[in-house]
Amino acid sequence: MDKPRPRSLRILLGVTGGIAAYKCPDLVRRLRERGAEVQVVMTAGASRFITALTLQAVSGRPVRDSLWDEAAEAAMGHIELARWADAVLVAPATADFLAKLGHGRADGLLSTLCLATAAPLYLAPAMNQQMWANPATAANVALLRDRGATILGPGEGDQACGETGPGRMLEPDQLAELTLSRLSAKRVLAGRKVVVSAGPTRERLDPVRFISNRSSGKMGYAVAQAARDAGATVVLVSGPVGISPPSGVEFVAVESAQQMHEAVHRALADADIYIGAAAVADYQARAIAAQKIKKSSDSMQLELVKAPDILASVAALKSGRPFVVGFAAETENIEENARAKLVRKRADMIAANLVGDGLGFDRDDNSLLVLWAGGREEIASCVKPELARRLVTLIAEVHGSQRRPGTVAAVRG
Ligand code: C5P
Repeated sequence: MDKPRPRSLRILLGVTGGIAAYKCPDLVRRLRERGAEVQVVMTAGASRFITALTLQAVSGRPVRDSLWDEAAEAAMGHIELARWADAVLVAPATADFLAKLGHGRADGLLSTLCLATAAPLYLAPAMNQQMWANPATAANVALLRDRGATILGPGEGDQACGETGPGRMLEPDQLAELTLSRLSAKRVLAGRKVVVSAGPTRERLDPVRFISNRSSGKMGYAVAQAARDAGATVVLVSGPVGISPPSGVEFVAVESAQQMHEAVHRALADADIYIGAAAVADYQARAIAAQKIKKSSDSMQLELVKAPDILASVAALKSGRPFVVGFAAETENIEENARAKLVRKRADMIAANLVGDGLGFDRDDNSLLVLWAGGREEIASCVKPELARRLVTLIAEVHGSQRRPGTVAAVRG
């Protein structure tokens, strides 16, 4: 079956109230001629400088300008719009809008979208040079940059107010190029299908009891989100956890190792990569009691049998085998044990971490030692979303190089 072609990048272009807004029709055209879909959202101030009709004509889509537009909200609600975007580009971004973003205000459609989206934020400031130099603006820009926004420009030169200095919006061609090239560089899994399993499994003993473990699902969910942000189509198969799945991924809820095994194999059709981040039970009850087990004696024995090893079963597939990534939670000899697991399970890559004594499970940060045939890389301790981004980048690199034999060992081996 043919692989899905990478779809066009979707840019949500926010236009705020600065004189540079007159360049936005050209910016829309420059983005579209590079293959992007553009949805324009204007603030009330922007409409003092440029009409919605002009931007609608060049973008080919009705412009959105209000949170309270019932017809537009019914067609695509603001949260859907926030999810639709692969990136939000605010150009021009006024000093006022930067201040608003810095404080997390949601007092209009555009500021609400910026708060509600998981997509990367690109900001192209444009203002008078004194306003740009003002410590308040500098602090807002620094804050937004620290939070992960990319600041594009501003340029230096003649300003509409007659002054000269930094504060000019970058030219449309340059903005389109910078935004799309940076975004494409992040989308290392565009056109790929990735299946991620996450969370613990629950092995039932009777109608009210089960055996489980402390996995929070945070690492697997962060990996699913990072793969989605890298442009992949993602299926997340998850055991019971207390966190919400990331938007934009297909979600399959399961309970037991057996159910996870079946759901993963169903999801694997056409998949390029399988990432087994779930803490799957090794053993399940031989038989689940139909009624609650009574405490009739001083001791009791449970008979357990091996649960399916999902990772090994995916790695053993004869046809349609994806690139297989497993996790290894180790309490000692991390590299030796993880390398042995890589071989034993016939996985393509193992991401190992130390657990126990407050490490690993149910925590927000972690570190990983990633091993594959002929290579290794350590990812130093950081919060799980960042760890997941780095891991996904590495997976894309090793998977990509195995499709072009001979490159990764040279780079990292
Ligand atoms: O066997 P062990 O638990 O040490 O290996 C961990 C890796 O194997 C993880 O990727 C985990 O998701 C996977 N696994 C599995 N099925 C099992 C046990 C572990 O897929 N029954």
